[in-house]
Amino acid sequence: MNKNKVHIFDTTLRDGEQVPGCKLNTKEKIELALVLENLGVDIIEAGFPISSPGDFESVTEISKIIKNASICGLSRAVQKDIETAAAALKHAKHPRIHTGIGTSDIHIKGKFNSTREDILQRAIQCVKWAKNFVDDVEFYAEDAGRTDNDYLASVVESVIKAGATVVNIPDTTGYCLPHQYGEKIAYLINHVPNIDKAIISCHCHNDLGLATANSIAGVIAGARQIECTINGLGERAGNTSLEEVVMIIKQHKDLGFYTNINSKQLNPMSRLVSDTMRMPVQPNKAIVGANAFSHSSGIHQDGFLKSAITYEIINPTEVGADTSKIVLTARSGRSALAFRLKNLGYDFNRNEVDNLYEKFLQIADAKKEVLDEDLHAMAKVFETIEA
Ligand code: KIV
Ligand code: ZN
Repeated sequence: MNKNKVHIFDTTLRDGEQVPGCKLNTKEKIELALVLENLGVDIIEAGFPISSPGDFESVTEISKIIKNASICGLSRAVQKDIETAAAALKHAKHPRIHTGIGTSDIHIKGKFNSTREDILQRAIQCVKWAKNFVDDVEFYAEDAGRTDNDYLASVVESVIKAGATVVNIPDTTGYCLPHQYGEKIAYLINHVPNIDKAIISCHCHNDLGLATANSIAGVIAGARQIECTINGLGERAGNTSLEEVVMIIKQHKDLGFYTNINSKQLNPMSRLVSDTMRMPVQPNKAIVGANAFSHSSGIHQDGFLKSAITYEIINPTEVGADTSKIVLTARSGRSALAFRLKNLGYDFNRNEVDNLYEKFLQIADAKKEVLDEDLHAMAKVFETIEA
């Protein structure tokens, strides 16, 4: 295994699909799984097989079709859950069972009314059950973000001893700051004697808008798997967004990591997920939002038109987006107006653009955006007056 590879674990079909209104049927899940595999994800979390007969069927059918990516099924630390996940994964070429339990005192007391020692035993037990069915077992320490590091280290050591190949350290509530999450991963690396026998995974929620930053902090500290979703979908404020972590790793070569993702498919994938899950993408979303490569203020437009890298750190073609856009608003400048008029086939000189600009500002103040049809109308009137 290359130690600089960051494994991309996509949970759009599980954590992402938990979003109200995003529920998928088996046919839709299969279609998305095939595109995810083509995108280059290493692991597809296909569902939570015990949760419903529909999800069991989805995991079963995806397991039959996907050949390269590992297929993962979620379960609680409950024997029946694990048996059901194993049954759904029966046909998978690379099956993985993802099992675990809450490890923070808040979960131990508030959810299980239990003790640290009991939860530790249940953690070991669930990994042993899962190992009866598959080699590849991922353990999640739910709410690890708020779990005492000492206790977390003893849970992680024990589940690795029991056979876990991946240990997932979820910031389930999106509570951690990036340096805290990074320190947590570093703590495990420094205090768990058998940590080299497993991959550490980041599973960060976005309640404070820090999911991406936390995942990257985790990788810098030594984690080598990121759990993420297309468009950052997921419970509440969502999960780490796949497109963001992939492009951070790609753009920051200085970090020294890589993924297997074909970045040119990121925008088509985002649109497909948005359409299939009936969940629009916010326009200012990094990498895949409609405005991610739009320039609208005069200062930015002028710089961009002289040299694109002044205001763009990613070439849109690298992420499969349309070309960059020069959007005309009341904040736009003369160079942007001249550029757009030229694209529409008009060849006005500098003086003429100066004159047109006054009219343009009147239209722009009255409208949110000046469109091609407004420019045509404005140019035609100007040409008639000048003739
Ligand atoms: O957020 C979380 O802790 C989870 C686990 C089930 C992995 O989704
Ligand atoms: Zn989650």
